[in-house]
Amino acid sequence: LSSLKVRLHKALRQYPDFPTPGILFEDIMPIFANPELHSDLIKALEISVAQTFGKQRKIDVVVGLESRGFLFGPSLALRLGAAFVPIRKKGKLPGQVETEAFEKEYGADYFQIQSDAIKKGQTVIVVDDIMATGGSAVCAGSLVRKIGGDLMGFVFLMELTFLNGRDKLDAPVYTLLTGQEEK
Ligand code: PRP
Ligand code: MG
Repeated sequence: LSSLKVRLHKALRQYPDFPTPGILFEDIMPIFANPELHSDLIKALEISVAQTFGKQRKIDVVVGLESRGFLFGPSLALRLGAAFVPIRKKGKLPGQVETEAFEKEYGADYFQIQSDAIKKGQTVIVVDDIMATGGSAVCAGSLVRKIGGDLMGFVFLMELTFLNGRDKLDAPVYTLLTGQEEK
């Protein structure tokens, strides 16, 4: 696992002042440009998630957050034998939806989930690329519970620990990498 972490860190690229001044943007896309690294990442996440959340109960549903949570949510769900359900930005999902507002590191938005996407009591993990302030994740967790999901925890590729987003989350959190503050 430690050598995978090194390879992932090497693949990530940092862009200062993107998308707004003062933000150090972590570009995760080079991981997906490398099939071997991509594959090793999904395998490692599967093992870690099974160890962290799947010991007592099977994970029924992986919820991914638009957009970058869609990059690994479905492949992780496949490996876990779980369903994949998207949470999308407002106005993208048809039918009956639940809506909730959130604030993140650089702006405010609304997330939605289809009201019938999860059956009552199904076990759920929420997956995203990066936890910054935790605003997106808090909102996602709340939507999952609103439609009856049993939220087992959150999974991120990277956590920006200096923003203390973890403190806002009331379910267990698994993160593979940590990110640095802009200097
Ligand atoms: C980024 C990132 C996380 C979120 C983290 O998504 O992919 O989803 O911000 O921030 P937070 O912890 O402060 O809420 P973004 O909304 O920029 O859009 P994208 O995934 O569609 O690129
Ligand atoms: Mg995102």
